[in-house]
Amino acid sequence: MKEDFPLLKKTIYLDSASTTQKPNQVMQAMQTYYEEYNANVHRGIYTLSEESTKLYENGRKAVARFINAPANKIVFTKGATESLSLVAHGLQLTEKDEVIVSIMEHHSNMVPWQQTKANVKYAPMKDGKLDMEALEKLITPATKVISVGHISNAIGVENPIKEIAQLAHSNNTLLVVDAAQSVGHQKVDVQELEADFVAFSAHKMFGPMGVGVLYGKIELLKPLVTGGGSILTVTTKGTTFMEGPHGFEAGTPNVAGVVGLTAAITYLEQLGMDNVANHIQEMTTYATSKVVDLPHIKLIGQGKGILSFTVDNVHSHDVTSILSEQGVCVRAGHHCAMPLMEVLGINDCVRASFHAYTTKDDIDALVKGLAQVKEVFA
Ligand SMILES: Cc1ncc(COP(=O)(O)O)c(C=O)c1O
Repeated sequence: MKEDFPLLKKTIYLDSASTTQKPNQVMQAMQTYYEEYNANVHRGIYTLSEESTKLYENGRKAVARFINAPANKIVFTKGATESLSLVAHGLQLTEKDEVIVSIMEHHSNMVPWQQTKANVKYAPMKDGKLDMEALEKLITPATKVISVGHISNAIGVENPIKEIAQLAHSNNTLLVVDAAQSVGHQKVDVQELEADFVAFSAHKMFGPMGVGVLYGKIELLKPLVTGGGSILTVTTKGTTFMEGPHGFEAGTPNVAGVVGLTAAITYLEQLGMDNVANHIQEMTTYATSKVVDLPHIKLIGQGKGILSFTVDNVHSHDVTSILSEQGVCVRAGHHCAMPLMEVLGINDCVRASFHAYTTKDDIDALVKGLAQVKEVFA
């Protein structure tokens, strides 16, 4: 499948958790949109605008089908970060409310909650996983929200979302799921997960940057951004807002981005999500087996497309630079999870991440590059 991804001809790309490469099919769909359909949506009565609107709304239907949700519960945003911010701020929490997040969250699922009036509590980890007993103990009658990642971007742990949903719902608590690392990696059925809100980004699932999704009980939210496109009436005395997703999509939306996301979904559906998940797991297992016995490497986390590690006495940035000289792209740093790094007792680590296009040759190149790192720093 690498032939579908022009950039993969030039590089050994092991940073898909950060953003995936884009297949020709996605880029072509966006190009065709601009060449043949470009017009603003929802406003014009002329044919071109109607066609553009249809493509945009078809995107909503495609997303809804992909995650098994009703289309009128799908809001387009800029990305997972904006989706999570929309829920955190849109719920209008007060000082009396409590929110629980896990300590392994990406900053995008921690900082927005910290910026609300609510008291944020942090569920700890035990033996490399979310400590479910501790999470349960943190729940009180004031707990309005539990917000957790489906799969950790830093250590590849998958959280037991259904179990957390049951805990949350038995306490009348809303469950928000950051699915940035799962919707493009395995079959995600939001109804089966029993999540009240789910956030993700198109660019981590072969789609373009600048488009994201918030699924859920949007009727509970106040919009973050208001203005044209989201209103019913405006007078000098006040404004009435549209109900449903459009009430949250003020301004001209990223129509070409949604068209790209639609093409990405088609691409993933053609691959088959079970095949995608199996391949990602196979690559993760292969990479782990190749790295686990290297004496200069300490594994930090492995699973679900993620392999993170430190190299003895070498800063992760130096590891990444040497790998980059060999044409291998991996990520170094705190992976937007500084509280998790603190719990793990490290400042940073190297992360290689895999997707449907990753091959064993790519991973062998990583292992060869790590031998080079050892030589340089011996
Ligand atoms: C788990 C997780 N949540 C949220 C985000 C934020 O996504 P975006 O930057 O697309 O808004 C990321 C991106 O790395 C992520 O991995």
